[in-house]
Amino acid sequence: MRQISIREFDIATASRQEFQAAHALLVRLEAEAWPEDPPRSLEDWERSIRSVPPFWAVHRWVAWQEGQTVASANVYMFDTEHNRHIADGYIGVDPASRRQGIARKLLARIVAKAEGEGRTLLVAGTDSAIPAGGMFMNRIGARVVIVSRTNQLDLVHLDRSLMKRWCDEGPRDLFTLGWWIGPYPEEYLAPICELKAVMNTAPRDDLQMDDWTWTPEMLRQGERSLTERRTERWTLHARHQTSGELAGYTEVFWESGQPQTLWQGDTGVLPKYRGHGLGKWLKATMIEKVRAERPQVVRVRTGNANSNAPMLRINDAMRFRPYKDWTTWQVELARVRDYLDRQ
Ligand SMILES: CC(C)(COP(=O)(O)OP(=O)(O)OC[C@H]1O[C@@H](n2cnc3c(N)ncnc32)[C@H](O)[C@@H]1OP(=O)(O)O)[C@@H](O)C(=O)NCCC(=O)NCCS
Repeated sequence: MRQISIREFDIATASRQEFQAAHALLVRLEAEAWPEDPPRSLEDWERSIRSVPPFWAVHRWVAWQEGQTVASANVYMFDTEHNRHIADGYIGVDPASRRQGIARKLLARIVAKAEGEGRTLLVAGTDSAIPAGGMFMNRIGARVVIVSRTNQLDLVHLDRSLMKRWCDEGPRDLFTLGWWIGPYPEEYLAPICELKAVMNTAPRDDLQMDDWTWTPEMLRQGERSLTERRTERWTLHARHQTSGELAGYTEVFWESGQPQTLWQGDTGVLPKYRGHGLGKWLKATMIEKVRAERPQVVRVRTGNANSNAPMLRINDAMRFRPYKDWTTWQVELARVRDYLDRQ
């Protein structure tokens, strides 16, 4: 096999030529995963990797063969008070360079870094469009913990009369809706942290991940990152009229570099306020605003665990359709170390 050289890709010191070569590989890998999407520009990609919020520690590597980039890898580790056992890894090998042991070499870098940081669990995701990912994860001893669907709604198929009904039937005698376009208002940061904790009630199946706790500082860090990557967030929230409590929310993300695609982020309603049709009211009101004010958007994408029946029921009724699967895997780092030592 021609010589492979693996080098750390440090965004603070990488040369322009290294950025260009790493971007060319990313475009090849993304074309395999999202064939209908236009390629991401170098500028967009560079902005996105330069704007990772500081509650993540990130390390990246690129594999070179005869001056070409043939693979890349990264590991994200939470720099938070919780979930310090997790290392979230990714390896992507150019389709033309697979089955030569390149991923194994990159895996060794990820494992060494994660072990050095005291992590014990490796988590990674694979895309059903690329079955080799699942084969590889099986081979290294990982187990499937969550199967999620990436759902896509082509807006021409949206059931508009149903959206009108969900809006008309919204429980406006009990709750009031309100918008946060862009950053959250300062006075709501603490209650928003509490509200966002509702996402801990979404199914995590067997994933060994502790509850996620937001702080006002983390919210602001996340917002700075969105601004840097030119992504706009719209949040629609519901407030319980008698208690004044935030009862639920839905959020969408729109990246100016990919104007045709809108990403649906969280939708959550506190358990005590479920059963009033709030989820439907929030989602229908949001989609109507998108249709009215973002005519460029032709499709909405979202990820839902297959076990999340209530969310899937709403999305299916809106005519989201399964696009592909995203599978989350986990494996103890000690087990991956055994696999690497056996080679
Ligand atoms: C998954 C991926 C990284 C594997 O890259 P690769 O360089 O071909 O993998 P390697 O040659 O290093 O193989 C490592 C092991 O996985 C096995 N493996 C890899 N691809 C396989 C496949 N398609 N079928 C069966 N086994 C496979 C190899 O046989 C090898 O096993 P061994 O240790 O017993 O020899 C590559 O297919 C890819 O980029 N996929 C898209 C991104 C992705 O899904 N990444 C994985 C999750 S982060």
